[in-house]
Amino acid sequence: MTDKELLKEAKEAKEGAYAPYSHFRVGAALLGKSGTVYRGANVENAAYSVTCCAERVALFKAVTSGESDFTAIAVTSDSDDLTFPCGVCRQALNEFGPDMEVISSNKDLKYKKLTLEKLLPHAFSGKEME
Ligand code: THU
Repeated sequence: MTDKELLKEAKEAKEGAYAPYSHFRVGAALLGKSGTVYRGANVENAAYSVTCCAERVALFKAVTSGESDFTAIAVTSDSDDLTFPCGVCRQALNEFGPDMEVISSNKDLKYKKLTLEKLLPHAFSGKEME
């Protein structure tokens, strides 16, 4: 799957966003090592802290569907600026795909691709507890 194809999946996923408070819609498409793409969009809540980001919606859908190794995630929003995963999502993604590529884009799918390791250096993981 090409970067552009995964980005298009993220753009379509964005349509599922529930963002009545921020009006900031985010779409994510997570590519499993099996080749399956899992889509997610942000789901907000009147109690703001309950909100779940698009990336974690996609990740949790994937993991609860039985896939736990990932090669890439594409993220997009309605912004002119590139949207990168928040810190919480970087940590959540690191649990299952520390080697994954993160493709962060703007509303026109202009993008930058970085490794998760670059976005979350010196990550805390299960290895630290061995
Ligand atoms: N949001 C995401 O879904 N992913 C990100 O990477 C950044 C932020 C959502 C959370 C909230 O619904 C809205 O964007 C504004 O923060």
